[in-house]
Amino acid sequence: VTAKTSSASAHRLLDRLEELGSVGATADGGVCRIALSDADREGRNLVRRWMGEIGLEVLVDQIGNIFGRYPIGDDSPAVMIGSHIDSVATGGKFDGNLGVLAGLELAQTFIERKIEFSRPIVVAVFTNEEGVRYSPDMMGSLVFAGGLSLDAALGSVGIDGTRLGSELERIGYRGDLPIGAIPIHAYVELHIEQGPVLEAEGTVIGAVEMVQGISWTECTIQGQSNHAGTTPMRLRRDAAWAACNIADFIHQLAGDMGGTQVGTVGRISLSPNLINVVARQAVFTVDLRNTDDARLSEAEKRFDAYARDLTQKAGMTLETKRLVRLPPVKFDDRIVALVEEASLSLGFSVKRMPSGAGHDAQMLAARCPAGMIFVPSVGGISHNVREFTKPEHIEAGLSVLERVAITLCIQGGPYSALSTL
Ligand code: GLV
Ligand code: MN
Ligand code: MN
Repeated sequence: VTAKTSSASAHRLLDRLEELGSVGATADGGVCRIALSDADREGRNLVRRWMGEIGLEVLVDQIGNIFGRYPIGDDSPAVMIGSHIDSVATGGKFDGNLGVLAGLELAQTFIERKIEFSRPIVVAVFTNEEGVRYSPDMMGSLVFAGGLSLDAALGSVGIDGTRLGSELERIGYRGDLPIGAIPIHAYVELHIEQGPVLEAEGTVIGAVEMVQGISWTECTIQGQSNHAGTTPMRLRRDAAWAACNIADFIHQLAGDMGGTQVGTVGRISLSPNLINVVARQAVFTVDLRNTDDARLSEAEKRFDAYARDLTQKAGMTLETKRLVRLPPVKFDDRIVALVEEASLSLGFSVKRMPSGAGHDAQMLAARCPAGMIFVPSVGGISHNVREFTKPEHIEAGLSVLERVAITLCIQGGPYSALSTL
């Protein structure tokens, strides 16, 4: 079997992206399918139905990860293709969904054409990749890979005060497949870049070499509420001012450090949040990322020192809670090379690049050889309702994924395939 004898349908994939994108659709053209919400349940139900219709064996594990396997009952080490279908509240149709539905499309193509491989294919949908409601992000894949206990994940308390385990139960996705029970030969994830690099350079495919380190912290500053008109400036313990000052510091710190360092204060809430009351409390998040772990640690230290010093001098208290700390992850060299070779053999320009976003593939990398394929994002925009990837780039990504998956599936030895491309 070679890639030439099989050709997955980009049309069917694009149709499914639209249909899944209509689940949790927002009035402004985006998607809101936050993990373990009713919309997430509806999206899961749709993907599970598709898996069943094309003839996959559907398995749900104890953290709600959904797996569609072909051939049914084959529990030898599989080539796993997956991603996530949960979204941020202001998401688009592509983030995550592309990787899942491209895997589904490949599985359907192989089944329809009666292509038999020496390894099973598993299409994976991982629970709570985004992490906007429950921390950490990439949770389903992290648990699957053994990096977080099932109990810790189920016990995660959301920003709405709910417990993840209860919500998983509520939407009917607390499965019984034991964690990690699917043996994997290799993992590949097709994803939109979510950044501006490929489009700016006119490159079609990104062969992803690594994912940068991620540090998430939640800060709570306690000051004192008081009257906005009567309280002299020197007597204020203004939590809003402190939080804004720290947000400004984070922005400048990333700029000063340069390189790949980025810093974001993405969520902030003030109490009592009233026009004429000095804020008593500010709760906000700090997202720091760097491809270099030592530099990331340095950014964390500088932020921490600044925030402590500022709040202490202003007579306020600061509590910090580390929500996520992930080191940079390198993908398997052989899979990176395979993505590169597959792209070139199909006539697509390709660039080795790091990922700025976190992905399930970085968790799977702890368990098996893993890699990722990026396609361009128009305007470099993502986590935004305007997120878009052109159909021809979806098609290019699908054909690269197909070639990579076939190569990984048909070979006897783990990577003897590389030389046959
Ligand atoms: C997760 O998707 C992240 O990169 O924030
Ligand atoms: Mn994603
Ligand atoms: Mn995302």
